[in-house]
Formats: sequence, C-alpha cells, structure tokens
Amino acid sequence: PPAAAAAPARGCPFASQPLSGHQTPTGCPVSQRAADFDPFEDGYQQDPPEYLRWAREQEPIFWSPKLGYWVVTRYEDIKAIFRDNITFSPSIALEKITPTGEEANAVLASYGFALNRTLVNEDEPAHMPRRRLLMEPFTPEALRHHEPLVRKLAREYVDRFIDDGHADLVDQMLWEVPLTVALHFLGVPEEDMDTLRKYSIAHTVNAWGRPKPEEQVAVAHAVGNFWQFAGQVLDKMRQDPSGPGWMRYGIRKQVEHPEVVTDSYLHSMMMAGIVAAHETTANATANAMKLLLQHPDTWREICEDPGLISNAVEECLRHNGSVAAWRRLVTKEVEVGGALLPAGSKLLIVTSSANHDSQQFADADLFDIRRDNASDHLTFGYGSHQCMGKNLARMEIQIFLEEFTRRLPHMRLAEQRFSYVPNTSFRGPEHLWVEWDPAQNPERRHPGLLDVRTPVRVGEPSRHAATRTLLVERATPAAEGVLRLRLVAPDGRALPRWTPGAHIDVECGGPELSRQYSLCGDPDHAQAWEIAVLREADGRGGSAWIHDRLKAGDRLRVRGPRNHFRLDEAARKLILIAGGIGITPVSAMARRARALGLDYQLHYSGRRRGAMALVEELSALHGDRLQLHVGDEGRRCDLAALLAQPEAATQVYACGPQRMLQALEAACAGWPEDALRIEHFASTVGTLDASREHAFEVELRDSGITVPVPADRTLLSALRAANVDIPSDCEEGLCGTCEVRVLGGEVDHRDLVLTRAERETQTRMMSCCSRARGGRLVLEL
Ligand code: HEM
Ligand code: FES
Repeated sequence: PPAAAAAPARGCPFASQPLSGHQTPTGCPVSQRAADFDPFEDGYQQDPPEYLRWAREQEPIFWSPKLGYWVVTRYEDIKAIFRDNITFSPSIALEKITPTGEEANAVLASYGFALNRTLVNEDEPAHMPRRRLLMEPFTPEALRHHEPLVRKLAREYVDRFIDDGHADLVDQMLWEVPLTVALHFLGVPEEDMDTLRKYSIAHTVNAWGRPKPEEQVAVAHAVGNFWQFAGQVLDKMRQDPSGPGWMRYGIRKQVEHPEVVTDSYLHSMMMAGIVAAHETTANATANAMKLLLQHPDTWREICEDPGLISNAVEECLRHNGSVAAWRRLVTKEVEVGGALLPAGSKLLIVTSSANHDSQQFADADLFDIRRDNASDHLTFGYGSHQCMGKNLARMEIQIFLEEFTRRLPHMRLAEQRFSYVPNTSFRGPEHLWVEWDPAQNPERRHPGLLDVRTPVRVGEPSRHAATRTLLVERATPAAEGVLRLRLVAPDGRALPRWTPGAHIDVECGGPELSRQYSLCGDPDHAQAWEIAVLREADGRGGSAWIHDRLKAGDRLRVRGPRNHFRLDEAARKLILIAGGIGITPVSAMARRARALGLDYQLHYSGRRRGAMALVEELSALHGDRLQLHVGDEGRRCDLAALLAQPEAATQVYACGPQRMLQALEAACAGWPEDALRIEHFASTVGTLDASREHAFEVELRDSGITVPVPADRTLLSALRAANVDIPSDCEEGLCGTCEVRVLGGEVDHRDLVLTRAERETQTRMMSCCSRARGGRLVLEL
C-alpha cells in the first residue's frame, strides 16, 4: 500500500497540506492544490499525468470543489474501481460534467434529445447480456475484414500530401480516416465528414467540457442535430437491416431479444458510437505520432524494425493515451485510497495518471517501446466495460504507423504549440504539423517499397515486440554454481530504472525457453542491470545454458523489468530474509532500505559459505544489520525465534526455497495480515490454488481433440497451449471475452459475467476462470 494511505483517519484524507478553506462533502478540509485542480485549464490539457503528479505522490484521491468530483489518480485504486461495476456504477459516464443553463437545455429539448444508456454507461444486470449479444463483430476474425479498407485509406491519404514536404496530420488524415473506418464499422453511409466532425466535437464539449454560457447554445444545437441525424440514419437502416455493420447487426439482434437491445439503446448508440469509434482513435494516433517524433531515436528504431510497432502502439496508449479520464458513480459507502466516500459520490478516475504510476510501471515517465507490461495501461478502461473496439483501434494505429514509418521515415515535428479541446476525457492535439524533404522520399528511389506490408497484430502485441537485446558486459562467478551477469544496452544508452524486487525474463538460447531472474545491484544505476544465476541441476536447462554458453561480449534477449514483489517504503521496520539465490531481490531491497535510512535487518541463509553469493559486498554495505546463517558452520536461521513476537508496522520480505517460505508462513501465522510478503521461485500460474483444484479434460467437438487441464492451470491457458486461439481481456472473470460454448458436462462457474439463469443452462462458460465440476467437459471449439 502507498505511503500516504496508511496515515489518514477514515473519511478525512490527506489534510496535511496547505488548506484552501473548502471542505469535502464529508466535512474534511481540502488542500490548496486540490482546490486549484481545474481539468479545463492548460496544465491538464497539455499533460494530465504531469499535472497530477503531486496527487499521485501525496494525495492520491482528493475532492475537487471546482468540479464537484472526487479525483482518483493511482493505478491500483482505479483498477479496483473498474473491477467493481456495482459499487462503482458507470451510469454517469456520458453525463454532462458541467451542467448547462436553461436556454441550452431548452434547445436540446427542442430536438427531442434523449441520449440515454448505451453500453458504456449501462448498469447491470442490463449491460452484460447486451455486451455479449453484440460482441461478435469485434472478434479478431470479424475485425480482419476491416484491414484492407484501413490500408487503402492510409495509402490514399498519404499519397495526397507526400510530395508537399509538410502536412497537418490531424486535418489532412487522422481525423477523416478513423471517421471513415468508424462509419464503415457501424454501417453508416459516409455523410459529410466536416459536419460529423463538428457534431462529435460538440458532443465531447457537451459531455466532458465546460462550455462558456455563450457557447452552450451553439453546442446544444450541434448536439441536437447530431441526435436527429443519428435517428434518421437508424430509421433508414431499419428499412433494410440485412446489410453490413455493427448497428444493423444490433437491429437484427433486437428482433430476437427486444428486451436486451432496446430502441433507446440503438438511438443512443448510433450517436455515441460514432464518437467512441472515431475521435478516440484519431486522437490516439495523433498523440502517438507526436510522442514518437519527440523521441527521434525511438522513431528511427521503429522505422528500421516495424516488428516493434505493435508494442510501440501500446506504449503510446499508456504514455499519452487519447482517453485521459473516465467517470464512475459510488452506489454505496466505500473506501477508496484511504478516503471514505458516501453513496452518490462522483468520481473522475484519471486513467492517464494511473498509466504513469510508478507502482505499476517501472520508470513510469520513461517512453520505452519495449516495456513488457505496456498493455496493462487503463486507456481502454478495464473489466466488464473495457473498450470493445480496442482491437480495431489498435489495428488502425498500427497501420497508420506502418505507413508513416515506411514512406516518411525522414519526417520530423515542425515548430508549433499544441492545443486541445478543453475537456476532462478526450485528448489529442487539434493540429499536428510535420515536415520532411520530399526529394528524400524513399519511394522515389525504391518504388517497390509501396508493396511491403507488415502483418498487423489483432490484439495485444507479440512478445517479440517487447524484447530488448542487451550486451553481456561481464560474466563472473559470484559463488559456487552462481554466475553474475552485468548487462548493458549495446548502444550505451541508459536502461529503464527499476525498483527492488523487479525481475527480468531472459531468453535462454531461444524464445521457447525463458527464465525469470530478479535484478540485483544498484537500482539507481541506469547504465547496467545485474542478475545472479544459480545453476539448477534439475531445471529445464535455462540456467545451464547461461552457465555453459554465455560469455562477456555475447548478446542476450530479455523482457522487463516487472515487479510483483514491491517494497513498501513507508514501512517502519523491515525484516528481510533470503535463502540461497533468493538473496538477489532481497539484496536490492536492503540497499534501498539503507538509502532511505529505514530500520532494517537482513538475514541471509545458505548451506555453505562458498555457495552464498554477494556476501562480501553485503557485509561491506550493511555491517551489523546483516546476519549470515551458514548451515555447515552450525548457524541456522531460527525463524520461529526471530519472528516469535509480532510487531505492528514491521514488514517481513522473503525470497528463497519453498521449504523456507513454508516455515516462514508458519512462523508469521500470528502476525498481522499482509506483514509477510514473499516471492516464490516457482512461477504461480494465474492465482489458482492447485491444492484445491482437480484436473479434468475437455473434448473439443469441432477440432476432434481432447485437451487435459491440470489442476494448476486455467482452461484458457490449457486451450492456448493446445493452439486454440481464444481471445481474452481481464482473465479474471469480469469482461466476458473468453466465453466458450459448452455442449456437455457440468461447469463450475467462477465468473461475474453470467446470470444465474444462464449458468443453469450449462451452455456457456468463461474459460479464464471457470472449470469442470466433474472430470470432463465437451466444448464447441
Ligand atoms: C468503451 C476508450 C476505440 C467502442 C470504452 C471505454 C474507454 C474506451 C475508456 C470505457 C471503458 C470502461 O468503462 O472500462 C477507447 C479508446 C479508443 C477506443 C482510447 C481508441 C484508441 C473504440 C472503437 C470502438 C469503441 C474504435 C468501436 C468500434 C467502445 C464500446 C465501449 C467502449 C462499444 C463500451 C463497452 C462496454 O461498456 O461494455 N472505450 N475506445 N472504442 N468503446 Fe472504446
Ligand atoms: Fe475476461 Fe475471461 S471474463 S477474459
């Protein structure tokens, strides 16, 4: 848990700052910075995560008197909010954030404006059945049909300006192409693009902006017209619903399920869908291009290796996404980030701030296209409402980047100041001026270039795209059977900073065999990463490969860093315990504890002194705080004695062999929950507790094969291991993406997606979490 979260009294968050004289609705004082927060001002518009850095660090949730919302800024809190769509209702997602005056309201009424529930702002139990009914056109196979159109449009639009030497990418391409694709996806005839652009900006300002009183009426007219336009398109579609597009698909589904796909839904979605599918994607591409051109080295890298594009897209969406914040309504009293919120509280959850939370992303402000958890970003939301169109958006952005990197690698950003449509949520520069020397256009010399195609990836990026090649600068024995490696970037550039407890994935000879190693050494030293590798006699051969084959001067492919074993720097006292090679993460924690001036003890056990790595440098650094427990010198670590007395505010971190960790868990049984934090050597697949599960098998009727599902594996991962592609998003039973149809056998349902009645039919299941009650299931796959 974050530093500040432990301290405040319930309901009274973070009042240790200069105060503003305002109060929260719960009667607590509001800090000056919270009172000053104004998302319609330039600071937020230019860079929301930077504008909210203070909050992420000191006041992770605060009341904004200007907005009348609680503002939530940290990753963990925001993900928890997304995860629970009952306590945190999405119903206000499209509501006007700034109430408008009577005149504007009367204008809207005169158009019969009645934008209501779509999907994004629909509550359960109505939302999930609708989402699932309408999901099919978003599956990877269905999306592939849109690829040729996206490519064709990208090609044509670039053709129009490639010989000019300059362009405003937003005006000349990025607005119109995603709009055309969106209309195509929805099945809407391509109407006057400029009018639709005007309409959708008005919709954004109406729902998420703060129009001045004199603007409100004009905005209301545009929104009213947009509403009527949507109604007319819908009427036309109803006359012949057999044609293409997601909206006609909805109309056809309405015939079978009128209570799920309602008239109000269709009309509202017709309007909201155009914005959802187009503005988001146009802005995302403009943000991505701006970011990439501001980092010319990275731009050059993706120009040279288009295989990197798919992960670069994720990193752009994380670093500078096009949806900066989203909204939820609290339906029952609940604690968020240390503040107790009453029912009825409105939340602005600033996903762009969460995306820069250093608790979730190593060196969070760094733009790193090889970040291997870039796709953990919350720009598409998360859980049951997570963006359904995300893979269409990803496909479009990839194709645009591919076209630009291939045909205009010499493009650069022109001098300019960026402006944004002032609003809380939809964010991208209104113009993006770029320039280049047309005489250098590669296709003038190599016309064949135009035929080159990098296949797009529908879905999340491949592992390759997040892999970095490092140089082994040193490989030195660190103890018996332990090799210490020092890795640097081949071009001498700095590596992402990491936090103690982080690990990297190392490819041992090829992509099929990778092993995880904790980083040791100095986290503040960005020039090199260090790992220490124990040769494991009965491992899968990864460590043997490193010991036998790898030498200084070789290249090594790695992914990460990632951290699932974080140090709570606010702990009053730390007991750090390592067994054997488990010293690697623990040594980094001890170094950090020392640098922070924390009270800590370091216990390091091993069988023989000669087999214990890092001993000398640890004793030089930690002196008396280090206690070595060397088995054959008769000094075993007596965990029971060490931990006999539970201490409040003391945390125990441990890494080592399974036996030691089990003993520790027993020794800590009387300690407060959460006091003990351990890192297992063996990877735990998902969060399955194998001791409580049983293995079963699934017969795949269409494929004619039977796949075993071991007790420690999810059905989803077993299916994927058998080469059956199943899309997934949340992998924790929230979003409905991984649904499979069941033909036989009894399902043990564990998801939050299906209703009780649906479960009882035993015809469908969520493969990421649900299992078989008996020994066998038959699936339609
Ligand atoms: C929902 C962002 C592109 C269709 C959402 C949500 C966000 C979002 C933040 C709400 C998530 C939540 O509440 O958890 C984006 C971004 C895009 C994008 C950043 C582009 C980069 C698209 C496209 C389409 C689309 C291209 C359609 C073709 C939808 C739909 C939902 C949704 C239907 C509602 C899902 C539900 O509530 O079940 N999107 N979106 N989006 N988006 Fe997107
Ligand atoms: Fe989300 Fe399974 S329910 S992936």
